[in-house]
Amino acid sequence: RSVESALRRGGASYGRRLFSSDAAPERKVAILGAAGGIGQPLALLMKLNPLVSSLSLYDIAGTPGVAADVSHINTRAQVAGYACEDQLGTALEGSDVVIIPAGVPRKPGMTRDDLFKINAGIVKSLCTAIAKYCPNAVVNMISNPVNSTVPIASEVFKKAGTYDEKKLFGVTTLDVVRAKTFYAGKAKVPVADVNVPVVGGHAGITILPLFSQATPVSNDLSHEDIKALTKRTQDGGTEVVEAKAGKGSATLSMAYAGAIFADACLKGLNGAPDIVECSFVQSSVTELPFFASKVKLGKNGVEEVFGLGSLSDYEKEGLENLKPELKASIEKGIKFAQEN
Ligand code: NAD
Ligand code: LMR
Repeated sequence: RSVESALRRGGASYGRRLFSSDAAPERKVAILGAAGGIGQPLALLMKLNPLVSSLSLYDIAGTPGVAADVSHINTRAQVAGYACEDQLGTALEGSDVVIIPAGVPRKPGMTRDDLFKINAGIVKSLCTAIAKYCPNAVVNMISNPVNSTVPIASEVFKKAGTYDEKKLFGVTTLDVVRAKTFYAGKAKVPVADVNVPVVGGHAGITILPLFSQATPVSNDLSHEDIKALTKRTQDGGTEVVEAKAGKGSATLSMAYAGAIFADACLKGLNGAPDIVECSFVQSSVTELPFFASKVKLGKNGVEEVFGLGSLSDYEKEGLENLKPELKASIEKGIKFAQEN
């Protein structure tokens, strides 16, 4: 089997079951922060996605090399690289989906909130440009702290008069990816069959995997096992930060997760049925204005935000415990955007 045919088959599984690449509509995807640790493998994965017709790569450093490199791959998407702020408008114009992994990553000993000082400003300026150049785009926010950067984006869009709550997503797919992997390992079930919803937010205890709803069901896991799986999922980012020992945080698994989520958004926009992923969105599932839960994706972005379903006592306790921290992070983001 050639690598090319393997990659083609991988690419095909993204969308060809429903749409041949020829029949798929034109879709422009922009990646902001495209030359970074996440941006580069994410650019690769989006170039392999047959649903993408135009791939716009923007970064303030290193874009031309990444764009030239990715552009040689013989798949559908036409690639363009944009390297400085005065090209941001062109990079964004006509985008259907904008993915934002721009910003600094953690080093050991830092929390995601420690990134707020730098990343809040980056996200604010990028969202200001989105409001101006592609106000109808679906936005996939990866930059941390997601619990604050999504509220920042919402305030920027509100100020600009372009806010559509159905089109703003905090990407929490990596939490789901981790929960699936860790559960499959412990429950000894095939990982490809596993589903685990992860709700709440994207930092520490605000990440709440719902292993009581995991499928395939395993009756072999003790309460201690579930507690350990929950903690490992919540600390998954830190596990990678520590292993990288100062050289950043998750990039490859994040690019994979980001590509899964962007693909789901594209499928939804194209009218594919039953596209459901967990995401941090505007929500009335709890008393908090933003919350991650299962979301149905459609032609206009969010079609339905699903409730949490039935929770174990341990999950109920986790839910109450996460609320104060998540509330404070949301409020911090809103305050920053309103005052700056
Ligand atoms: P990185 O430093 O490798 O790359 C970031 C890129 O952003 C760099 O290329 C940089 O030039 C670019 N950048 C900085 N300011 C910019 C601006 N104003 N406009 C455009 N580009 C700009 O970092 P990384 O490892 O790719 O991580 C990026 C972000 O993603 C971090 O905030 C990290 O915490 C976050 N992250 C989130 C998740 C998640 O699950 N949501 C997972 C992993 C990482
Ligand atoms: C992750 O979950 O891997 C990311 O949020 C990056 C980090 O800082 O942990």
